[in-house]
Amino acid sequence: MSVKNKVAVVTGGASGIGYACAQELGEQGASVAIIDREGCAGARALQELRALGGAVEFVRADVSQSRDVESAVREVMTKFGRIDILVNNAGIQRYGTVTTTSEEEWDEVLNANLKSAFLVSKYVIPEMMHNGGGAVVIVASVQSFAAQINSAAYVSSKHALLGLTRSMAIDYAKKCIRVNCVCPGAIDTPMLRWAVSLDPDPDRVMEACGKSHVLGRIGHPREVARVVAFLASDQASFMTGSAVMVDGGLLVPAGGMAFQETGTGATSR
Ligand code: NAI
Repeated sequence: MSVKNKVAVVTGGASGIGYACAQELGEQGASVAIIDREGCAGARALQELRALGGAVEFVRADVSQSRDVESAVREVMTKFGRIDILVNNAGIQRYGTVTTTSEEEWDEVLNANLKSAFLVSKYVIPEMMHNGGGAVVIVASVQSFAAQINSAAYVSSKHALLGLTRSMAIDYAKKCIRVNCVCPGAIDTPMLRWAVSLDPDPDRVMEACGKSHVLGRIGHPREVARVVAFLASDQASFMTGSAVMVDGGLLVPAGGMAFQETGTGATSR
């Protein structure tokens, strides 16, 4: 496979989609550095991924802090000597409208989801340029295109990641650096489990959430990771500035699946 012998950095790689990306890239032959702020989860991920045979390192850092990012990238360079692939995946969800979101929560979400991608790219891209090129994949969301109720900061951060993807794609094409993003629908990770646990009936929410996707279910982290690995690989050599939906068709039906099933389409079946 074409990520073989490459060095990948995955932010938020201790959990969920980031962990699956680290596993997928590792299985396809890349060396992987996980950067995450959670020390215990990171150490556990490191142990598990090494047990699978991967060349993996874990660097503890808060990717929304420039000093942390600068020293994390330096540490990866010391360990692996180069960086070919960057997966900007770290992110958090907080719920609130513009009137109920505090300034601190707004900053927390924008820093974790958007500023982190700016900062890690800022320190990794010079290393890629030094090597003659690379590939960046940003984990955005269906919420880069559509809005969920009560999620003003999250939706804003994910829309902005689409802009960052396109802007970086244009700025670094001549340096042989491709930049794309993936836009997942609901994926079964600790973040999603936390979100549904806020409802008094999490099972009902999980079921309804699955049904809102055309494929009738929630996605698995590896289903996103396989697309991330493809975009990071030379197989995607003519792709840059793209936003690839990995959403089980969530954004396809006009008016949503419930509307489709009660509308004339359903009655004429
Ligand atoms: P998760 O909560 O399972 O994993 C996120 C990881 O990022 C955690 O290990 C966390 O410690 C790390 N992280 C968060 N902020 C950090 C920071 N400032 N510095 C270092 N590490 C940090 O979440 P999940 O679901 O795997 O999400 C990964 C990405 O996928 C996020 O950007 C999320 O917005 C996005 N996404 C997730 C969807 C889902 O349904 N799970 C759907 C669409 C997008």
